[in-house]
Amino acid sequence: MKFLITAGPTREYLDPVRFISNPATGTLGYFVAKKAKQRGHSVTVITGPCSFSEIRGVKKIQVESALEMKDAVEKEFLSCDVLVMTAAVSDWRPEKRYREKLKMKRPWKLKLIPNPDILKSVEKIKKGNQVVVGFALESTSIIENARKKLNEKKLDMLVANTVENFGDSSRNNEIFVLYPDGKIKDCSGYSKRKLASFLVLEIERHNKLKRRK
Ligand code: C5P
Repeated sequence: MKFLITAGPTREYLDPVRFISNPATGTLGYFVAKKAKQRGHSVTVITGPCSFSEIRGVKKIQVESALEMKDAVEKEFLSCDVLVMTAAVSDWRPEKRYREKLKMKRPWKLKLIPNPDILKSVEKIKKGNQVVVGFALESTSIIENARKKLNEKKLDMLVANTVENFGDSSRNNEIFVLYPDGKIKDCSGYSKRKLASFLVLEIERHNKLKRRK
């Protein structure tokens, strides 16, 4: 299969040297890419700014902002079988990006506007045999909120976890994989490497089922 994996954070610039971002490390995306490659799949990674190590034979596309990531995903998605959207895409960006470094020494009210939802835009061009996996980071009512996201974004699988698992945390507390038929797999306590392996095998299984239909 052809895997497309997004990883890391995005950066939303206010001016040439300042931006809004988050502490995503790209680690889970890295492990998914590695496992998929080991399993003999062709792999392309679209990564935001993080130290995503090279993996032999894996194509890496570097982006910064959510809009750049959206363009790259839409282009690559056309020819892939699987999209695994591990990237922590910024939900907002500054309304205005200043060309020159701001020199304001006084309070400043920053206006943010929503970024487009990449998974939602992909859903519109998705073909029946493509598998799309999303992630949800929740503070409360994990399963309930995740189920809503799975339905709204019409995903084949959604991995829900808590904010405690974010960034370079090695703790992996609550993790659930949700499926459209209502099934839930409890992966709590899995390391990122173990979760990545589980996901790649699940995707292979899912793809086989789709092709049989
Ligand atoms: O809605 P929320 O941001 O929690 O959804 C998380 C999932 O949606 C992740 O898989 C993330 O990569 C994806 N996402 C996206 N476009 C955005 C924000 C998040 O595709 N603008």
